[in-house]
Amino acid sequence: MKPLIIANWKANPGSVKEAKRLFKAIPYNRQVVICPPSCYFYLGKKHKLGSQNCFLETGAFTGELSPEMLKSLRIDYVILGHSERREYFKETDELIREKVKACLKEKLKVILCVGEKKGQNTLTILKRQLSCFEKGIFAVAYEPVWAIGTGNFCNPEKAKKALDFIKKRTKTKVLYGGSVNSSNFKQYLKQGFDGVLVGGASLNIKELKKMI
Ligand code: 13P
Repeated sequence: MKPLIIANWKANPGSVKEAKRLFKAIPYNRQVVICPPSCYFYLGKKHKLGSQNCFLETGAFTGELSPEMLKSLRIDYVILGHSERREYFKETDELIREKVKACLKEKLKVILCVGEKKGQNTLTILKRQLSCFEKGIFAVAYEPVWAIGTGNFCNPEKAKKALDFIKKRTKTKVLYGGSVNSSNFKQYLKQGFDGVLVGGASLNIKELKKMI
């Protein structure tokens, strides 16, 4: 199976001009999914697109997006449980579990993020966070929090232990994320990861093109 690249742009870039430039420069590839801020979805017509988050339902929920909206926009993928959502927006496993169910109901392809913080026991955290797993989830992304945006990527052999643990429990695709770039991403594929979830390096056209 060809590896997947999920590009998580987070709250970047800061202008529509720059977003246009990025979309234009990224070649279409069916193994690549771009997850831009939702205000830029309309610019990514030729690319496969994903949302970085989603709420539970359509209605009086100021500032939110619903699974129904994503479906009707043909945004097929959705990242849920990202550590930045957990940390800065106080999302709990309980809420994430509800979001997973709501998105699966609309047949969205859910990418569930899990991973430990520095000093935490990896397998204990994974076990707890995988309580959000549901049959039908598209992929689980192992993203050790300490490796995100730090340049301090996880040792691939150590990541393999997390991969095996997740695979055994979920029997689904498993991605690695955390300071992935064009020089280290192959090491994760070699360990058996089905792809990568890329933050910072996915905003750098040269880097992203090299990986594609
Ligand atoms: P970085 O690649 O910038 O470390 O971010 C990883 C990430 O959080 C992807 O979801």
